[in-house]
Amino acid sequence: ARYWAVIPAAGGGTRMASGRPKQYLPLQGRALIEWSLAPFLEAEWIDGVVIVLARSDVEFAKLPIAGHPRIVTTTGGAARADSVLAGLEAVAARTRGFRHVHVLVHDAARPCVQAADIDRLCEDADDEHGGILALPVTDTLKRGRQNRIAETVDRATLWRAQTPQLFRLGLLMEALLDCKADKLEVTDEASAMERRGYRPRLVRGSEANIKVTYPDDLELAQFWLRQRTR
Ligand code: C5P
Repeated sequence: ARYWAVIPAAGGGTRMASGRPKQYLPLQGRALIEWSLAPFLEAEWIDGVVIVLARSDVEFAKLPIAGHPRIVTTTGGAARADSVLAGLEAVAARTRGFRHVHVLVHDAARPCVQAADIDRLCEDADDEHGGILALPVTDTLKRGRQNRIAETVDRATLWRAQTPQLFRLGLLMEALLDCKADKLEVTDEASAMERRGYRPRLVRGSEANIKVTYPDDLELAQFWLRQRTR
């Protein structure tokens, strides 16, 4: 089997309110996105890494890693799924003739992912149904209605989905195109697969692999990156 990575990085990062797309904020001496990419670039068994950028992006080309021989860049769309689809098309164009191409889709906004997380996912994912990194929910969960508790949700079966998420290229493309045709917005790749009846495997992720969404998350990411170099 062949492996590729697709990194959607075309989001606006509006919740970060930094005036600059969050993936380029400085973090421990590098741009945030460079951390998110590093373990994929270091894994030589991954044939290529497609970075999906906003049309207006002027920052990526300035990064030290921009000229890396295994990096391909392409332009994303209005919704995350559009950006991922654009990335998958770039993979398809470069892997014609190969059967069993697997893609790892990873948020540019998750800089603390490590090689061990990626290895575990590839080992434990189902060949056909795929798999995702996820963690069991530990908080008690409430469903709210107008700021009041409507009910308590049983957390015993609930997981928090992370990335990377691993699927077969062709199956994931079909699933995302299907959502698009039905005008359904999905927030991760697994949702699109589930709709078609697949049951991706839940592979235990790591607490460090946070998504940087709000300004406070940057400090937490810094903490996890520092832990590592000790
Ligand atoms: O918005 P959210 O934090 O869920 O975004 C997750 C990832 O998807 C980010 O890396 C973001 O850059 C990317 N994205 C994208 N294209 C969009 C929206 C989000 O590539 N239109």
